[in-house]
Amino acid sequence: ADDGYRLWLKYDLIQDVKLRADYARSFTFISTSSDSPMMKVTVAELEKGLKGLLGNSPAITRQANVQKPGIILKIDKNETPDEEAYHLFRKNGQTIISSRTEKGLLYGAFTLLRAIQTHQNLDKLDLSDSPKIQHRILNHWDNTNGSIERGYAGESLWKWYDLPDNTDPRYVDYARANASIGINGTVVNNVNASARFLTEEYLLKVKELANIFRPYNIKVFLSVRFSAPKNIGGLATSDPLDPEVRKWWKEKAKEIYGIIPDFGGFLVKANSEGEPGPQDYGRSHADGANMLAEAVEPFGGIVMWRAFVYKANPNGDRTKEAYEDFKPLDGQFNKNVIVQVKNGPVDFQPREPFHPLFGAMPQTPIMMEFQITQEYLGFATHWVYLAPMFKECLDTDTYAEGKGSTVAKVIDGSLHGYKITGIAGVANTGSDRNWCGHPMNQANWYAFGRLAWDYALSSEKIADEWTRMTLTNQPGSVQTIKQIMLQSRENTVNYMTPLGLHHIMGHNLHFGPMPWLSKSARPDWTSIYYHKADSLGIGFNRSASGSNSVGLYAKEIRKQWGNAGTCPPEYLLWFHHVSWDYKLSSGKTLWDELCSRYYQGESAVENMQNQWNSVKKDIDPELFRFVAGKLKVQQKEALWWRDACVLYFQQFARKPIPAPYQKPQ
Ligand code: GCU
Repeated sequence: ADDGYRLWLKYDLIQDVKLRADYARSFTFISTSSDSPMMKVTVAELEKGLKGLLGNSPAITRQANVQKPGIILKIDKNETPDEEAYHLFRKNGQTIISSRTEKGLLYGAFTLLRAIQTHQNLDKLDLSDSPKIQHRILNHWDNTNGSIERGYAGESLWKWYDLPDNTDPRYVDYARANASIGINGTVVNNVNASARFLTEEYLLKVKELANIFRPYNIKVFLSVRFSAPKNIGGLATSDPLDPEVRKWWKEKAKEIYGIIPDFGGFLVKANSEGEPGPQDYGRSHADGANMLAEAVEPFGGIVMWRAFVYKANPNGDRTKEAYEDFKPLDGQFNKNVIVQVKNGPVDFQPREPFHPLFGAMPQTPIMMEFQITQEYLGFATHWVYLAPMFKECLDTDTYAEGKGSTVAKVIDGSLHGYKITGIAGVANTGSDRNWCGHPMNQANWYAFGRLAWDYALSSEKIADEWTRMTLTNQPGSVQTIKQIMLQSRENTVNYMTPLGLHHIMGHNLHFGPMPWLSKSARPDWTSIYYHKADSLGIGFNRSASGSNSVGLYAKEIRKQWGNAGTCPPEYLLWFHHVSWDYKLSSGKTLWDELCSRYYQGESAVENMQNQWNSVKKDIDPELFRFVAGKLKVQQKEALWWRDACVLYFQQFARKPIPAPYQKPQ
């Protein structure tokens, strides 16, 4: 039975005998030029893959046997300058993976395996590929006690109490999975960081992880607590302009690099949700970031400084705060600082417009932060394929430098000539045997990595690859599963937060709907603040007559989104307070449209169940049963969302539920 542990690296014997024999003939040996750790893991992966998929045991040699066909791993200094680029091609019957460095060979090997797993014809193989973004990173919100903030797949993968002496073999499988999709960095601890991670005790544990990840081209980073000089350094202050504090960080960086020579650098959450930061001392985010940047600079490290900041202000508009704090600092950050911005200006909602900082800081590298773990998208019980959500953001035009200035072009550095580029995903992994809690949401880890490498890939292509590698190659079932995946995010938006609604989930835990007032919530955390429903209508007025956060975007966007008549329905209630009778382009009134989205969203989950049932014959029975069970929970929760929201808003709208959705009496 399939317990989901092997993720998309399944390598089961190809059942089509002819196809298998064709492949097998092509791969009689693997030739390598070195015994380095990276080359070793590359060859081992190819060997494991070919053995599993084809039943082959290719000879491992230093010399290409030109009499027979095989795989040649070749370092070629004439290949493209990007160290991670590779060229994968066929020549005289040989399959050649060529790159300037072993990093490219590693990625080329995984690409070859993927091609076999997805049953591609390799006769005319000729693929040159390189990543569009330099730092492709997972962020783990993992704590010293093994818990994971917003984690829904068990405990932390990192066994801090056992490390460094006892290492879990799973660390290797984690690294393999990441390398297979091009992820090359990992921040192993929570952004709400404990200063303990900077003590020698923990650095030695982290070193052990770095040693395991290194052959897979994965660098380790740490989230740091800004007040560490006070917390563990014995200083009276953590003021970034204090010479003692600066010295402390420099020495700390030296110590870290003495232990982990290729350490990636720091991720920092400062002056956000109660975390300490430079503003505690009247200093700016740039002052704080630059102090840390100076400390890691001699060792080639970077600082990823987060822009997720907002204060409790029930009369303000949270969507403007990060922009107002950071935009004036453009040009003030050191060269090795990159500002990490969440995709949207609130907080990983099922749908948000892109964050106004994208495109707004031409002199400061900005990196993307997506959330793979489903904090606001049904935890690990709802099957939601997130590639369409990631792509929606990346493909949106910011118009920062005129038409065609997509968010993707901001973060790949091409729009403003950034020297450092990056993209981070908050991981959905944990100690559950199947890694992600919901086996189908492994696809989100996969999709994040694939898009981080190449954001031009379509959601459909990624779903196709993942399904074939993970579940089945049977065309009919692949088709059905892809359909489920591709519509799943829109369904979830419909049954949770249609038409631009946001942040109406359970407070604190973020579980289930809670559009009503909660006595315990902060004034700007209660859902009412975000949906603003009243007897007249619903929605947050962020147009020029309201908070004018739409004014933070380029004029082309302002013009479109700033006017209810031209604002896409997806963002209507994000930017406008409109009346219950407001007529949408669909011809329906707002109230009717809202209801129909909630009802359609819920019934789409019933449809997912039928679709899933129809692929049963091609799915491992244990996996099939498990996912069917998850869908039952999702259906129940979708119903809960629908009824809670429709009934809650109905008290303001004072209108009947539209006829098609009324229950027969
Ligand atoms: C959200 C999330 C927190 C997290 C924060 C962040 O608010 O609920 O748990 O710490 O984002 O990204 O810093």
